[in-house]
Amino acid sequence: MNDTLIIYFSKSGTTKKAAEYIASEINAPLHEIKTEKVYPKNYMMTILESIKEFKKGERLALTDDVIENFSDYKNIIIGFPIWCFTCPMAVISFIEKYDFTGKKIYPFCTSGGSNCDKAALKIRELCKGADVKDGIKANNLDKGKLSEWLKDLH
Ligand SMILES: Cc1cc2nc3c(=O)[nH]c(=O)nc-3n(C[C@H](O)[C@H](O)[C@H](O)COP(=O)(O)O)c2cc1C
Repeated sequence: MNDTLIIYFSKSGTTKKAAEYIASEINAPLHEIKTEKVYPKNYMMTILESIKEFKKGERLALTDDVIENFSDYKNIIIGFPIWCFTCPMAVISFIEKYDFTGKKIYPFCTSGGSNCDKAALKIRELCKGADVKDGIKANNLDKGKLSEWLKDLH
């Protein structure tokens, strides 16, 4: 069995593309975080929606969120777009449903400019028993950047 799982959330496809690139490079399975809520197509409306979520600390209902044999994966690569300088509430909602104790977690983001630092801190806070690596911005990933980031994957 593959011991690495790639999990991602993507509203408009950029993070999905990065996740698929990583999956093809390391030959790992993918799981998409999907919300019951359908976000507005409009960018500004989505920003307003996300601000409301952050203010309320809203936990999102997720669909298709059963991952078979999650406990067997040693490494979790998790990607998301940066929303309001951090990871979307959908990702937090997902992380809280699973036990990451003992796993290595590699966070990556895509964004319009922000880095992954604040999101990685949040993930560290949520996954205390895991080894959460520094995150990378994956808008323009290439083989070199990827292998440097994942150098201690196994
Ligand atoms: C609700 C919302 C909030 C965002 N906040 C930020 C931000 O704080 N910093 C940033 O650089 N980009 C921000 N962006 C831009 C996205 O991070 C960027 O376009 C990302 O690559 C989109 O990924 P996706 O296509 O996988 O959804 C935001 C976008 C949205 C929709």
